[in-house]
Amino acid sequence: MTGKQAAVITGGAGGIGKELVAAYAKKGYDVLFADVLEEQGRQLERGLSASGLRVQFVPADLAKEEDVKHLMEEAVKNGRTLSVLINNAGKSVWKSPYHLTSEEWDDVLNANLKSVFLCSREAAKKNEGKRKRGRHCQHVFDESFYV
Ligand SMILES: NC(=O)c1ccc[n+]([C@@H]2O[C@H](COP(=O)([O-])OP(=O)(O)OC[C@H]3O[C@@H](n4cnc5c(N)ncnc54)[C@H](O)[C@@H]3O)[C@@H](O)[C@H]2O)c1
Repeated sequence: MTGKQAAVITGGAGGIGKELVAAYAKKGYDVLFADVLEEQGRQLERGLSASGLRVQFVPADLAKEEDVKHLMEEAVKNGRTLSVLINNAGKSVWKSPYHLTSEEWDDVLNANLKSVFLCSREAAKKNEGKRKRGRHCQHVFDESFYV
């Protein structure tokens, strides 16, 4: 990967994330995408790389601080600027609250909320002191902000 602008997309191995990975790579970004689904992530990386797109899969559980730090370190390697973060990873548990366990509750909040906090914080740190416009942080669940 040799481009200068990196886009990080979380939960990129499937669903909406997979389409975002391809779309941002076609726009010319170096796309780093993270997911817990290692096999699917590797397969997507191979497929898009074979078409000449610059993509890198980083296996990660985004609820884990060390995994997120590693992801953002990878994003700024080779002099890249971390320009785009899309907080897309998330999960749902569809069952009655009568039967929902506290472990399931924690798991959903960690995947949907803690991951957004960790990724946004670590991505912002990579741009600390650079006060240019255009660094964009997007949350797939309908809100966005600029860092
Ligand atoms: N599809 C919809 O209609 C819809 C509607 C509203 C919001 N959303 C949100 O949009 C996002 C993408 O939706 P989707 O339908 O593509 O979902 P999806 O389940 O197909 O994809 C989500 C991806 O996030 C990954 N993921 C989950 N927890 C993770 C973790 N802790 N670490 C790393 N990766 C993790 C999953 O492995 C999966 O590949 C989700 O956050 C979802 O909640 C989707």
